[in-house]
Amino acid sequence: MSAPETLHSGIVAPQGVWWKKAHKAEKTWVAISFAWCMVLFAMMPLWHFKGGQNPSGIRGRVDPAAFMTRTQEFINQYQVGEDNGIPVVEPPAGADVYMIGMMWQWRPVLRLRLGAAYTLHLSALDVNHGFSLYPVNVNFQIVPGYDYGLRIVPNNAGDFRVICNEFCGIGHHNMVGKVVVLDSAAPAMPYLRDSATVTTAAPDTAKGGAR
Ligand code: CUA
Repeated sequence: MSAPETLHSGIVAPQGVWWKKAHKAEKTWVAISFAWCMVLFAMMPLWHFKGGQNPSGIRGRVDPAAFMTRTQEFINQYQVGEDNGIPVVEPPAGADVYMIGMMWQWRPVLRLRLGAAYTLHLSALDVNHGFSLYPVNVNFQIVPGYDYGLRIVPNNAGDFRVICNEFCGIGHHNMVGKVVVLDSAAPAMPYLRDSATVTTAAPDTAKGGAR
């Protein structure tokens, strides 16, 4: 015997147009969507191993102030000039190279050699920044507290710009850094034409203190 129409219980299906059985086409689309979700889900790990999509270098925690100090030591060690107040550094092949993003600059300017291998360490001092190397398509999220160590071998000579692609405050649009890749035969330090003085003082980091 069936329950009266007025009585509702959890085991009796209430009446209503929404309760009609799903149309075959609807079921098909749900199945297609689900299958596609699974494909995209599977591609995340697949890309990691097959597509070269994820940074394959060293990732570790680092205190932002300690990274700043290490970067300054690196600058003191290999500085060859200055460009608009930013130190220009030319490390030897095989060196650990440091670049830090902060509101609103990239330090230092790097001079690298074509075909030489480096370990490029990237981190941020204050807030998230985005490392975009133009015109080549290299993009990284630079997060304070994390050191991204990338093993790189520059394969194109020329001037490259580091554009911040993560909104980081009022000076975001001016946050442009520089990487110069020199042909292996180019003489060392022609860059000094741009530098009035070589400073080794640590930058004033207090201005970027908002967190
Ligand atoms: Cu740094 Cu935008």
